[in-house]
Amino acid sequence: MGEMLDLIKKRRSIRRYTDEPVSDEAIRTMLEAAMAAPSADNLQPWEFVVVRDAGLRRQLAQTHPWSRMCAGAPVVFVVCGHESRSSHWVEDTSAATENLLLAAAGLDLGAVWVGVYPDRGAEAHVRKVLGIPEGLRVLCLVPVGHPAESKPPRTQYDPRKVHYDGY
Ligand SMILES: Cc1cc2nc3c(=O)[nH]c(=O)nc-3n(C[C@H](O)[C@H](O)[C@H](O)COP(=O)(O)O)c2cc1C
Repeated sequence: MGEMLDLIKKRRSIRRYTDEPVSDEAIRTMLEAAMAAPSADNLQPWEFVVVRDAGLRRQLAQTHPWSRMCAGAPVVFVVCGHESRSSHWVEDTSAATENLLLAAAGLDLGAVWVGVYPDRGAEAHVRKVLGIPEGLRVLCLVPVGHPAESKPPRTQYDPRKVHYDGY
């Protein structure tokens, strides 16, 4: 349990990466963690586009002003959800994304959640760059690489946000 909490606190948004590639094994481990997430009715309505091509990553970096680090990360995961298969696709793919981020931290890799949903313009851009079909929604981009910046682990525990037996 202590180790698990340490990992949760260690996960920080890392936006600078070295040129060192991320191994296929590490990519597989992160995808396995993502797909181990809980989902409503266990429908697992997710799909993942793994983007390593530099030209495509440069285009993903243009999604919006806060997605620029996609150009510098050796791999970008694009987390998608089938809207028609589950009304809970946002929650399900969000759970998968957090698992992916935790797995990255566990592998000593750096990663950050780059939001796409609910910005329809950003989503249309990603859809066009990667040929994602209509109906398959885009939740977020997750650039991952070996970290070129470090941030301290931290808790954000705030007792004022906790309410026992009613608000
Ligand atoms: C839904 C969502 C969207 C986010 N979008 C972006 C983004 O577009 N660009 C970015 O650099 N960080 C983005 N982040 C990362 C947050 O800025 C970050 O998690 C927050 O500042 C807390 O820092 P920490 O992750 O290091 O704990 C996003 C996080 C979430 C959960």
